[in-house]
Amino acid sequence: MDKHHFSPPLNFNRWIEDHAHLLKPPVGNQQIWHGSDFMVTVVGGPNQRTDFHDDPVEEFFYQFKGNAYLNIWDRGSYERVDLKEGDIYLMAPHVIHSPQRPEPGSLCLVIERKRPAGLHDALQWSCARCGHLIKRYEMQLESIVADLPPVYERFYATSDDERRCLECGAIHPGRDWQTWHKTLQEFHPS
Ligand SMILES: [Fe+2]
Repeated sequence: MDKHHFSPPLNFNRWIEDHAHLLKPPVGNQQIWHGSDFMVTVVGGPNQRTDFHDDPVEEFFYQFKGNAYLNIWDRGSYERVDLKEGDIYLMAPHVIHSPQRPEPGSLCLVIERKRPAGLHDALQWSCARCGHLIKRYEMQLESIVADLPPVYERFYATSDDERRCLECGAIHPGRDWQTWHKTLQEFHPS
């Protein structure tokens, strides 16, 4: 524990410059402070995905460079929230969302609260055709950077049969976000 009750301020622009190589693929995000109640991360593009995140606490977004958007899944229906450059957005707990960052070089500040014990996050995947839930994995999240990738890999390792929609029979393409997004656009034009 630091003998002081605070750490010195960081120059945000300099921090961005120092971490620029990590704010793009294959890493794409970095947490600024560790062991704090606020989990403050900077997330860069390009990054597109098929997973949706169910967060038991609020998330704050400041899309300070470039544009991004969130796909929202609400009990089988899809919506879209655009995060234009300069937008700030406060998302309520349990809004099941999938951040899409198509623009290389885009940057977003994301602030979440450390999860109290017993308050679980979930990652889930749903059918791009009919919206039916395909798989959902719940977890006690302690680290955004370390705890989520193993869950992605667990889903990507499933067979086509395990990813078959029980409602309409379509097969979820796993990590192939281009195919998933193309189907979403076709069946749920935004
Ligand atoms: Fe389906």
